[in-house]
Amino acid sequence: MELNEAIETRRSVRKYTDQGISDEDLREIVRLASYSPSWKNTQCVSWLVVENKDLKSRIAEEGVCGYEFNCKTIKRCHALAVLVTEKGKSGCEADGSFSTSKKDTWEMFDAGIAAQTFCLAAKGLGIGTVILGILDDAKIAEILGLPENKTVASCIAMGYPIKQGNMPPRKSVDELLEIRK
Ligand SMILES: Cc1cc2nc3c(=O)[nH]c(=O)nc-3n(C[C@H](O)[C@H](O)[C@H](O)COP(=O)(O)O)c2cc1C
Repeated sequence: MELNEAIETRRSVRKYTDQGISDEDLREIVRLASYSPSWKNTQCVSWLVVENKDLKSRIAEEGVCGYEFNCKTIKRCHALAVLVTEKGKSGCEADGSFSTSKKDTWEMFDAGIAAQTFCLAAKGLGIGTVILGILDDAKIAEILGLPENKTVASCIAMGYPIKQGNMPPRKSVDELLEIRK
């Protein structure tokens, strides 16, 4: 798929067919996402993909701050890619001090880039995704038994789309862009 087409036609997908995603495709998506830029190339982002139904159900029931919409999406998806970040790397100097006034929020910046790259890579393989932000990250980390130095930035629900969704309206370029010459 051509790059511009993938960018334009990627939609958040919340309803999926029964078709499973192969390990080979998951590996390819993560391989492509690994090309994402990151703070000083620290690559603090990694992926834990949950396919196990019981585990997925637990995350859906206990890890969405009571937001029923996300609970349903997680139960429906074939795989839930948990975007894990390593704390204290992005935005930080070697001695642990913050490099800029944005402190460690660069960690979420790196996670966001990786998430979009992941979603576009999935799109290229015909796999639908939706980034989920309304989550109880500490609860999900507990359910998954993540170590202290790791945190859950977001989750991405995945599966083959039932249909191509409509695009929510976007601001025009005129609204978004100011060029100063
Ligand atoms: C940081 C972030 C958090 C989001 N959180 C949720 C969420 O919790 N649940 C959900 O269904 N969609 C979530 N979305 C998807 C957005 O609603 C969606 O991207 C937006 O409506 C535009 O639609 P599109 O992705 O089809 O272009 C999130 C997207 C982003 C980037």
